[in-house]
Amino acid sequence: MSGRGSRRLTWAALCLAAVAGGVLAGCPKPSEPAKTGQTGTPATPAATAPKVGEAGKIVIGFLVKQAEEPWFQNEWQFAQQCADKYGFELRKIATPDGEKVMGAIDTLAAAGAQGFVICTPDVKLGPAIVEKAKQYKMKVFSVDDQFVGADGKFMDVSYMGISAGDIGRQVGEALAAEMKKRGWTADDTAALCVTWEQLNTAKERTDGTTAALTKAGFPADKIYRAPEKSTDVPGAWEAASAVLTQHPNVKRWLVFSMNDEGVLGAIRATEEHGLKPKEVIGIGIGGATAVAEFDKKEPTGLFATCLIDPYRHGYETTEYLYKWIKDGTPPPKDTRTKGTIVTRETCRKVMKERGLL
Ligand code: GLA
Repeated sequence: MSGRGSRRLTWAALCLAAVAGGVLAGCPKPSEPAKTGQTGTPATPAATAPKVGEAGKIVIGFLVKQAEEPWFQNEWQFAQQCADKYGFELRKIATPDGEKVMGAIDTLAAAGAQGFVICTPDVKLGPAIVEKAKQYKMKVFSVDDQFVGADGKFMDVSYMGISAGDIGRQVGEALAAEMKKRGWTADDTAALCVTWEQLNTAKERTDGTTAALTKAGFPADKIYRAPEKSTDVPGAWEAASAVLTQHPNVKRWLVFSMNDEGVLGAIRATEEHGLKPKEVIGIGIGGATAVAEFDKKEPTGLFATCLIDPYRHGYETTEYLYKWIKDGTPPPKDTRTKGTIVTRETCRKVMKERGLL
């Protein structure tokens, strides 16, 4: 069995134990397929996508890299609201790798789609995605993760992402403020940063948090980085466990990452290493995954999250694409959305006010 396989097994065992105890929100339930996902086998490519009006309907795809993650399920849900409002057909397709992306574009073409919104599983697929879309005369709108060209530069393709650096800094300021409030000193506190540096939006977030923490006086050499091998709870758990094992004498931890999943995986690891919830201040980025953790009866190490906006990333991106197809109105090239820090006490209320529940 491969190392990865056995790590997955360990994680699965943990999930089972925790689900039995009703305490683990971060574990996907294996028996539950992604609610709205459809994966398609590549179909025979159509020569060209039908022009709007010719076939009498607009078909739009929404492709996401991690359909099991609540963030992407919410994007799909809000994209569907947009489709229902304007009366076009939306095809939601899970595309966890390049082969699935290429197959999905063929499937969309066969269905007569005129374009798609995509959070790509790998930003370097950008040129291949754009090329294939061009062959079918489809329009492309990228969301969350920005395409990178062969020259290493961001591609000139419409994009909506979070204002990653600012959001990361907000997380760092909130961590420093809570640490101060609890009267912790840097002597017996360290920070655990679960990283995914190959993705720009992820790196900007964790770099932003690191910068804000050091600006607030936290020693840079006590920020330990844990590169994850997959951007989900098991990936973060594994990365964080290694760091915790290396630093058994640290009594208190600040925890941050690119998203809620990264922080939750690390928090599960601190629990395993015998740390109490009060000895951990974790702040995520996301909302939907965090709120499930905040709903638990007893507080955990997840202190807060920076709430970001799946409505804008799902509804608005789809609306831009729809209007581009229907009226020829080109969408803005670069849109950055903001975040708001919410805690266990305020998360549900703020999400409700913003229509995110
Ligand atoms: C990336 C992350 C997601 C989410 C989005 C927000 O795609 O993988 O978890 O944070 O960014 O844009």
